[in-house]
Amino acid sequence: MLILAFPDYLNQAQRLADRLAVPLAEISLHHFPDSESLVRLPPSLPEHVIICRSLNQPNDKLIELLLAATTARELGAKRVTLVAPYLSYMRQDIAKQPGEAVSQRIIGKLLASLFDDVLTVDPHLHRISSLDQAIPIKNAVSLTATDAIAEFLKQQFAAAILLGPDSESKQWVAGIAKQTGFDYLIADKIRQGDKQVAMILPEYDYADKPVIIIDDMASTGRTISKAAGLLHTLGVKAVYAVVTHALFCDDAEAHILAAGIKAVWTTDSIDHPSSCIQLDGLLATALNTMLRT
Ligand code: R5P
Repeated sequence: MLILAFPDYLNQAQRLADRLAVPLAEISLHHFPDSESLVRLPPSLPEHVIICRSLNQPNDKLIELLLAATTARELGAKRVTLVAPYLSYMRQDIAKQPGEAVSQRIIGKLLASLFDDVLTVDPHLHRISSLDQAIPIKNAVSLTATDAIAEFLKQQFAAAILLGPDSESKQWVAGIAKQTGFDYLIADKIRQGDKQVAMILPEYDYADKPVIIIDDMASTGRTISKAAGLLHTLGVKAVYAVVTHALFCDDAEAHILAAGIKAVWTTDSIDHPSSCIQLDGLLATALNTMLRT
């Protein structure tokens, strides 16, 4: 077995390889002036390779994944596994207007055609209940970072209120609340545009309490900054945020900081200065289980 890591996920893949005691090779990438990619794998591969890369900023990465997985098969790999802790294109799961691409289904089918197994963490599945409905293969494995996040929060706080900014976040917030014993609340959110969010907080005595906003991802940061702004008007002690996937597009971080958040913590599904919750233990356990079955 060999772990093949794209450069943008090298540190996390190395930690995973160390845990599994499996060798690692870096996939070499060259970007031509016209923006095409040259992908180079080690010319000699074992029967099973595990390709590791998160799929934030996905468009180029998906093409490079197609090139890498196809080349791995051409070089003799019989089993090709994808570890993509952040899986993109999962939110567009219906056509809201006639003619729209249902990206979740299309990208899911592409990944199913390339990989024998796909492992990811907290994918944004809204209208479907399991990952294999999006990626139609037997081993489509959806893990959750809630235990790792709960362990981290237990070390930071003796007590706090957890706030999920929308109904979709309830699955993660409730899981973390169960592990930490902290109370949790779920807000009502309406997304009015890419960077416009309206929100109503549930009634609660927030005064003088630390509140931790929990979400699966921060993209534009508008969800977190809106929640933080509302919480501050209610006299909370301090606002923190934990998200699984640190997308932080454009001015997201500036927006979050301007909303008076004391700290933002994320997992290392995407490499970012805030990524202090490591997922290699979770991924290694899941891979070991998968390999035994
Ligand atoms: C959406 O339902 C997700 O769970 C997140 O709340 C959302 O993607 C965050 O996006 P943004 O940071 O752009 O508000």
